[in-house]
Amino acid sequence: MGFTLKPVQGKALVNREKIIEEMVTSLADFGVEMGFALVGNRRMGKTSIFLEVCRQLRNKEKIVPVYFSLWDLVEGTLEEFTQFLSVAILDAYKDRLSLKLKAKNFLKIPLETIKEILTEAEVAIKIKEEVEILLSPRRAKKRAIEDLERVFELPESLALQTKTRCVLFLDEFPSIIELKDGAHIGEGAIRKIRTIHERQRGTILSISGSIRKTMEIVALSSASAFYRQLIVREIGPWNKEDIKDLIMDNLKKPIGEEALEKIVEFTSGIPFYAQFLGRELSGVKEKELTAQSVDVAIEQFIEEEGSILFKEEFERLGPKERKIVTLMASQDLSSPSQIARAMGQTPNKISMYLEYLEEKGVIEKIERGTYGLADPVFKRWLAIKYA
Ligand SMILES: Nc1ncnc2c1ncn2[C@@H]1O[C@H](COP(=O)(O)OP(=O)(O)OP(=O)(O)O)[C@@H](O)[C@H]1O
Ligand SMILES: [Mg+2]
Repeated sequence: MGFTLKPVQGKALVNREKIIEEMVTSLADFGVEMGFALVGNRRMGKTSIFLEVCRQLRNKEKIVPVYFSLWDLVEGTLEEFTQFLSVAILDAYKDRLSLKLKAKNFLKIPLETIKEILTEAEVAIKIKEEVEILLSPRRAKKRAIEDLERVFELPESLALQTKTRCVLFLDEFPSIIELKDGAHIGEGAIRKIRTIHERQRGTILSISGSIRKTMEIVALSSASAFYRQLIVREIGPWNKEDIKDLIMDNLKKPIGEEALEKIVEFTSGIPFYAQFLGRELSGVKEKELTAQSVDVAIEQFIEEEGSILFKEEFERLGPKERKIVTLMASQDLSSPSQIARAMGQTPNKISMYLEYLEEKGVIEKIERGTYGLADPVFKRWLAIKYA
């Protein structure tokens, strides 16, 4: 099997059995009407959990899971979202509707052909019409925003027609706010989705988000549209035993206690970094992994891979934001007043930048007036590179 940087499924998954079992049992139960909201920092394994739950649900007779990630969009327009999500939904239902074509090709073929395929398929006329509108080019319809309603009605219509339950997974859900339809469509879109979803009986929505601040806006805070509508689960870091499992499963050699501690400390238990170090360690010849090899792997990671991984993220920030995170990392500053002093700015100004950084998921509020970098490995990299 070996170490990987892609989402993992099946036997390769370490530690997440409990949450996966809970989700599969609950989502497959027609008596339960609540979906899940997974909250967890970047690279913690949310997508892996969603994909594994999907895989297990696919084997159940009356359940049709659909996975869609907002981060897979290229243009980030509302039109792209509604079209691609329609395709993902149709694709999940293609066997049950005996659709003649792989739905993925839908966007590439002329509308006339789509109409023909839909005519042959066992789909209610009403659904056919809705799909035609969803897949027709922008200029052919009045307003893209109306398609938002249409695309969220689609799984419900298909579920009712086929007497199934559609379980819809929207990975990185809060990014919906940023979809463009001229301007950003904003939080109103989230409320609209909530209103549509509330009335549905055949569709169950589950969402995830990497940025706590934006998850608060859509689901966690009492003012948010999905507050108490979803079962919230935190996807946290691994412990020492999990890291040991990952290394033993993939490297097939034992690891010394000190070496293990080093991996735990450096990765903070974040699966992605554990996989990454594991990959670096794959070439090591020794019988049992030593702390020394881990040190070398960490250094290599910081120097080579870390730069590829983090540089872009860092450069996307504004100059003031970059300065702030660099100070927070290298001098361990955490309050607006400390940072303001170090930068010769007013705390108010700094608070404003901290808010932007929080919305981007780069930092997190730990408590009132105290902030920290969301990703400890990014912090370490910054501290070394910009000391
Ligand atoms: N349970 C697990 N067992 C083994 N590896 C895992 C597990 N969960 C995540 N990983 C590894 O961690 C990395 C990130 O996983 P995944 O993409 O699922 O996380 P994520 O929280 O969705 O991340 P992102 O913020 O990038 O969307 C991948 O390299 C994957 O191989
Ligand atoms: Mg993900």
